[in-house]
Amino acid sequence: MIIDKLSKRYGSKTVVDSISIEIPKRAVTSMIGPNGAGKSTVFNMLARLIARDAGIVDFNGKDIEKWKSKELAKKIAILTQSNNIQMKLTVRELVAFGRFPYSGSRLTEEDEAIISKAIAYLELQDIQHQFIDEISGGQRQRAYIAMVIAQDTEYILLDEPTNNLDIYHATNMMKIVRRLCDELDKTVILVLHEINYAAFYSDYICALVDGRVAKFGTVDEVMTKEVLSSIYNVEFEIMRIEGKPLSIYY
Ligand SMILES: Nc1ncnc2c1ncn2[C@@H]1O[C@H](COP(=O)(O)OP(=O)(O)OP(=O)(O)O)[C@@H](O)[C@H]1O
Ligand SMILES: [Mg+2]
Repeated sequence: MIIDKLSKRYGSKTVVDSISIEIPKRAVTSMIGPNGAGKSTVFNMLARLIARDAGIVDFNGKDIEKWKSKELAKKIAILTQSNNIQMKLTVRELVAFGRFPYSGSRLTEEDEAIISKAIAYLELQDIQHQFIDEISGGQRQRAYIAMVIAQDTEYILLDEPTNNLDIYHATNMMKIVRRLCDELDKTVILVLHEINYAAFYSDYICALVDGRVAKFGTVDEVMTKEVLSSIYNVEFEIMRIEGKPLSIYY
């Protein structure tokens, strides 16, 4: 994905201001930055959920706005920040939703196997026959992530996937993301608030501030005291665990 001078305005306010970056393939890239920095707006343009005002998102050699929806759905799976399907579905039925672009309404044995695997990844086996409006917020978040994974697309885009998740499930989710990239060659784009998850489990970080790219680079390039302190206006210390930079802020 090549993002070139991408911009978005709401009324007179420019919320994404001429962003240009190239998202590396078969890697995990996390977008970080303060509330209101424009992360979800960029994310939604990459996912083609909203139209841009200027610039271009080149996806596999073609302007993303020119892709047919059905073709794009085979390539990109999306979890938005406000995922909310208003249907009486069980967890398993929700995850099965992810297979529809391929199989129509009839699920093959292969589909069922992929669905079961996604459910197992997110440790949802015990609640797979419960309705999604009758489980906890974190369980529901995991069900949505399983739905996205079950789509088995080349690109996986998750806006704040750790929302509502306890530390165990959030870490498990990040480990799954790592495996999707390392073992299944997926390209993953995340929006994250927990910068240490971004640091530990991503390859690249894009830090946005006020609709602009404050810093884009490898984890080591972005996770410095100077860069982080300027982005968030709090004091940071950086320590290293397993060779990776982790931040402490106070
Ligand atoms: N539909 C909209 N109409 C008007 N303004 C909007 C709309 N969507 C977003 N904005 C504005 O654009 C700016 C960026 O919002 P965005 O949701 O992209 O931020 P974010 O970085 O994802 O923040 P958060 O961390 O809170 O999710 C904000 O000032 C927001 O008020
Ligand atoms: Mg957001």
